[in-house]
Amino acid sequence: MDILEANFLRGFLRMANDGWEQGWHERNGGNLSYRIRPEEIESVRECLTPREWQPIGTVVPALGGAYFLVTGSGKFLRNALSDPEDTVCVLELDEAGENYRICWGLSRGGRPTSELPSHLMNHEVKFQATGGRHRVIYHAHPANIIALTFVLPLTDEAFTRELWEMATECPVVFPDGVGVVPWMVPGGRDIAVATSELMKRYDVAIWAHHGMFCSGEDFDLTFGLMHTVEKSAEILVKVLSMGGKRQTIRPEEFRHLAADFGVSLPERFLWEK
Ligand code: 13P
Ligand code: ZN
Repeated sequence: MDILEANFLRGFLRMANDGWEQGWHERNGGNLSYRIRPEEIESVRECLTPREWQPIGTVVPALGGAYFLVTGSGKFLRNALSDPEDTVCVLELDEAGENYRICWGLSRGGRPTSELPSHLMNHEVKFQATGGRHRVIYHAHPANIIALTFVLPLTDEAFTRELWEMATECPVVFPDGVGVVPWMVPGGRDIAVATSELMKRYDVAIWAHHGMFCSGEDFDLTFGLMHTVEKSAEILVKVLSMGGKRQTIRPEEFRHLAADFGVSLPERFLWEK
């Protein structure tokens, strides 16, 4: 079938456009990747024309031979729906997980996102941690979570607790909490290692003064996770702008919520203030 008709491509492009409409993708900001299912890649095999092998910039042996749909470096997610052939690409990894080759897309040239090492190392960690359930890694630049990285302590505990307190759904949606990466140079292996280390425990990693990474099973859940965290950050920005909290959800109330909703919340986030 024509890859432009494939459901996995349609869902990918819709998610990229949804992020653009949220204001999370100024210019070429942000990037998205999806680990393609074997039956999905078979269904579009006739559209694939492999190009030269290129080094990934890191090694992901557990993902050897896998195919990914990835946004291009310097491409605008704003154009994903109207110009998918040039905005995104299909990648194949070699068996060692050291090199990739473009098999479709980036029609006017270019290469996959500069954050490919972070995407693939996160995919590898999540592939192993979830028994292959997680397939989507999403990086965006949402303004409120970035603003908070100038004000809150850059710790997993501070961010998790503040975000949980801002909306009752938050501890249910991300019960493991969120991780925080201090400011680092983006686009390389070092930040990929730091982020993937956090992805062993969390589905969300915040990049100080830069943005956020989310991991999830499908487009809905991963977009919804980014949306939930960013909305909670927006509420906190409003609360701080109004002079700060006068009341909030207490640790004991989080424990009741956890019991009723069947989630377990780590006690290290529930200290008495
Ligand atoms: P790319 O255009 O290379 O995907 O980079 C955008 C970005 O957000 C880098 O962190
Ligand atoms: Zn970025």
